[in-house]
Amino acid sequence: MNGEQKRVFSGIQPSGDIHIGNYLGAIKKWVEIATVHDAIYCIVDNHAITVEFDPKSLPIRSFEAARAVMACGINPEACTLFVQSHVPEHTELTWLFNSVTPLGSLFRMIQFKEKTRSALRKALSKKSGGARATILHQIKGVATTVLENAAQIGPDLAALDPTADPNEDLVARLNDGMGNIMQQLQVGLGVSNASAGLFDYPVLQAADILLYKAGLVPVGEDQEQHLELCREIAERFNRRFGNIFPAVARIPGQAPRILGLDGKQKMSKSLGNTIGVLDPPDMIEEKMARAFTDPKRLRKTDPGRPEVCNVFTIHTYFTPKEICAEIETDCRAGKLGCFDCKKIAAKHIDVALKPIRNRAKDLEANPKRVIEALDQGAERCRKIAGQTMTEVREAMGIGPGALKKSSIGG
Ligand code: TRP
Repeated sequence: MNGEQKRVFSGIQPSGDIHIGNYLGAIKKWVEIATVHDAIYCIVDNHAITVEFDPKSLPIRSFEAARAVMACGINPEACTLFVQSHVPEHTELTWLFNSVTPLGSLFRMIQFKEKTRSALRKALSKKSGGARATILHQIKGVATTVLENAAQIGPDLAALDPTADPNEDLVARLNDGMGNIMQQLQVGLGVSNASAGLFDYPVLQAADILLYKAGLVPVGEDQEQHLELCREIAERFNRRFGNIFPAVARIPGQAPRILGLDGKQKMSKSLGNTIGVLDPPDMIEEKMARAFTDPKRLRKTDPGRPEVCNVFTIHTYFTPKEICAEIETDCRAGKLGCFDCKKIAAKHIDVALKPIRNRAKDLEANPKRVIEALDQGAERCRKIAGQTMTEVREAMGIGPGALKKSSIGG
């Protein structure tokens, strides 16, 4: 790769509607980069099957994601767009990478911990269902064990903290101890009910990138830890089997981190706090009307604090600079109320999204253009992936080529 222009790779989940967080955090950058680099963009359906999914709708979700990405300005003439599972080498390389990935590194992945916790919550919130029954059964098992050992918990807690006052209320200490136990139980239950695939998710992501020897990855800040793991895998592989893979760097998007309309959590489809890039104008307005602003501002006449207001942050990405400056002044002065401010934001978001919506409509009428782009994309990717895998298999001593090159095949 040395001396050559670096290749770019990025991926996006086919998880329902693509939202303005995806757009500002990554896709807008994808469009820009594709004009200067060899860029490969992937709809990661193999990643999507690591959590609950419906096989009937999965291919449609992948198509819809491709359509939305193209509507956002990704031109398949200028770059390569494909669906991950159409290139089987991704899963093969994942398996080989598994053998150079320390379990400890995977256990540190924040996204895994977050996803297992939210999956646990989701499973428990269902009235019925296999997952809920399994988890309740597990909890019952743990509760029984705890009760059986209850007599020992008091002294154990005291032993853990020798400075504790022995006269301190045992119940309070027990409560503390139980809080800890409950927390660990939650993590444990979440992890044990997650699929092995969810745990291995970042290894598949490393394979995605390195299969094409891509050195640049435009993704949101939340993916930094996964890229660190990708670098670790490449280094370990290179050290053991020969120098095949490049160093990987992240390219940040336009917005470092877009919060959802709740103003607290990352914008995410599963949290229901998004504005979709294809949302119609009335839906944008309605969603913005519900968006959280400065929590301390109760009346219009209260002076607002744009620096803590998520709606103002959204303004900075969609509303022209001069208008943003006016909004900032009027908000601080208690002249512009949140209601009107959000209306203005909705209007400018709509101006930005309208051309995307229009392109999406065209593509809806011409689905063949999406399918053909994906077919051509996969064909090109299979060629590159095939070359890398030949190198990798030989370096690791597997596959028929390696046998032929061995002393026996000789
Ligand atoms: N994990 C990424 C996300 O959730 C998606 C992804 C999968 C990806 N494979 C990738 C991103 C490879 C960049 C490169 O956003």
